[in-house]
Amino acid sequence: MPIRPIAPADHMALLALWQRTPGLQLRDEDGYEPFCAYLARNPELSLLIELDGRIVASLLVGHDGRRGYLQHLAVDQTCRGRGFARALLDEALARLARLGIGKSHVFVLRDAPLAQTFWSAQVGWERRSDIQVYSTRRSSE
Ligand SMILES: CC(C)(COP(=O)(O)OP(=O)(O)OC[C@H]1O[C@@H](n2cnc3c(N)ncnc32)[C@H](O)[C@@H]1OP(=O)(O)O)[C@@H](O)C(=O)NCCC(=O)NCCS
Repeated sequence: MPIRPIAPADHMALLALWQRTPGLQLRDEDGYEPFCAYLARNPELSLLIELDGRIVASLLVGHDGRRGYLQHLAVDQTCRGRGFARALLDEALARLARLGIGKSHVFVLRDAPLAQTFWSAQVGWERRSDIQVYSTRRSSE
């Protein structure tokens, strides 16, 4: 499986993959500078799969020193059902474990049915009903 870490130069191709993937929502943080800052803060953790020079799958991976956080798991529609998402997850969780991060989370929109069925079906993942996520935003000054 041709998995490799995501590099800053992959940004344009990844944006294209994310934009053509229904169910993924792009945010300000998907712009080039925050993307690069995220990669630098979490080196060698975010991963992609490349086939014949074309990026067909991605997973953004970071941690805060206690827990891992996964975002933007996307597999090109033409490449689904071939184990690409599973391979990215296995590799990412192995890399996090080597850093001492044994537990990871993924936030999944309630109204993303494909993502919900995917995550519900993943062995070893527990859908949490005991946690409600609260979010806030503050701009830098
Ligand atoms: C969800 C997604 C990443 C799955 O990618 P994929 O490469 O087709 O998944 P895999 O082939 O690696 O499948 C891994 C396992 O999940 C199962 N699976 C895959 N898609 C599934 C789905 N929609 N519902 C339930 N199970 C699913 C597979 O059967 C496989 O199980 P197995 O190992 O027991 O056979 C892909 O459909 C996608 O990009 N969806 C749009 C973006 C999205 O919703 N991402 C999640 C954001 S949180």
